[in-house]
Amino acid sequence: MVTSWEVESLRSQLADAAAGRRFLLQGGDCAERFQDCESPAITRKLKILLQMSLVLVYGSRKPVIRVGRFCGQYAKPRSEAFETREGKVLPAYRGDLINHPEFTDRGRLPDPELLLRGYERAALTLNFIRALVKGGFADLHHPEYWDLDFVQQSPLASEYYAMLHSVVESLQFMENVLGLHPAEMERVDFFTSHEGLHLRYEEAQTRRPPRRERWYNLCTHFPWIGMRTADPDGAHVEYFRGIANPVGVKVGPAMTPEKLVRLIELLDPDGEPGRLTLIHRFGREAVEACLPPLIRAARSTGRAVLWCCDPMHGNTRLTAAGVKTRHFTDILRELELAFDLHAACGSRLGGVHLELTGENVTECLGGARNLNDEDLVRAYESEVDPRLNHEQALEIAMLIARRMRNGPA
Ligand code: PEP
Ligand code: CO
Repeated sequence: MVTSWEVESLRSQLADAAAGRRFLLQGGDCAERFQDCESPAITRKLKILLQMSLVLVYGSRKPVIRVGRFCGQYAKPRSEAFETREGKVLPAYRGDLINHPEFTDRGRLPDPELLLRGYERAALTLNFIRALVKGGFADLHHPEYWDLDFVQQSPLASEYYAMLHSVVESLQFMENVLGLHPAEMERVDFFTSHEGLHLRYEEAQTRRPPRRERWYNLCTHFPWIGMRTADPDGAHVEYFRGIANPVGVKVGPAMTPEKLVRLIELLDPDGEPGRLTLIHRFGREAVEACLPPLIRAARSTGRAVLWCCDPMHGNTRLTAAGVKTRHFTDILRELELAFDLHAACGSRLGGVHLELTGENVTECLGGARNLNDEDLVRAYESEVDPRLNHEQALEIAMLIARRMRNGPA
């Protein structure tokens, strides 16, 4: 699905992000669904990531690395092995790569054929994304190609278009006045990522390409190790140790400085720039206590890791009706604290990792339209974690951009 050249190019871009020369935007569904492998849904996913990245370019005044949680984000770790409904107990849904969300004996039975169906859909999705990007869809001269209808009616519209015009004007200045025509302006890159959870799936697509010394996972550019499988002595770390791709590790409240140092030494023995991204996800309540000791521990290893904040997974809660949700305010607050804490520790937040969709779902509370508990029933589609809808996703990007441009409010 991908080549080692692309993987190496991403690694060097991530090295730039670790050094403060780029910013990483990683986002997409918590779990992709096979049924969403169709052009309108894929197009909307690209559109929202493009819009967000443009806003982040404006805010950070840096190139943005766009990484989708797509083309293979099909396997889910679960906290509970079983699910109970009205007294009936069945195995949990573990993503379309493993079984089905339907709450029946048959639906929850793991089916190895799904590994093949997942690979096909991942490849189809990536093929369509490559075609769109190559065909000029992502051309910065034509942001109207990736306008999402909702923006015009949104309370965010005027600020978004102001940011857009500022970027387009700079582009025109560069081209018309300075005579520069960087190819990057017409063809932006998208990279793929997913949690490397199902080791059989990952291993089957791991190769040593011709003229390369090392092994590459060629079913994604950027696999990450989830929080539940980040055991230094576990199988996942052992597999990731053997591949040359840049890798991410989710870092949650259970991570200790000692364990983090071991992980860094195992996964990045040579201190290779861009190799390791630490994606922290503590929740707004815990981030202040958890993050600084880990920043110090990582620094003690002498490695230039890239720090990225996932403000989603530590902020999940249940509504009174038992629906899994996240509040926009908590997500934003964790992000703001992450920027502040890194700055206070002499470190740098180099990216964000978000669960979002290009659709108008109602899964997270708050945001510009202040969605409440009752709104959640309207368009709640995720089978796993609640995602920011297109408007909330753009709003988060705009708030990050404002913050990067102006510093703390
Ligand atoms: C996820 O990213 O969907 C996920 C399960 O995250 P974590 O491993 O951080 O809980
Ligand atoms: Co999730």
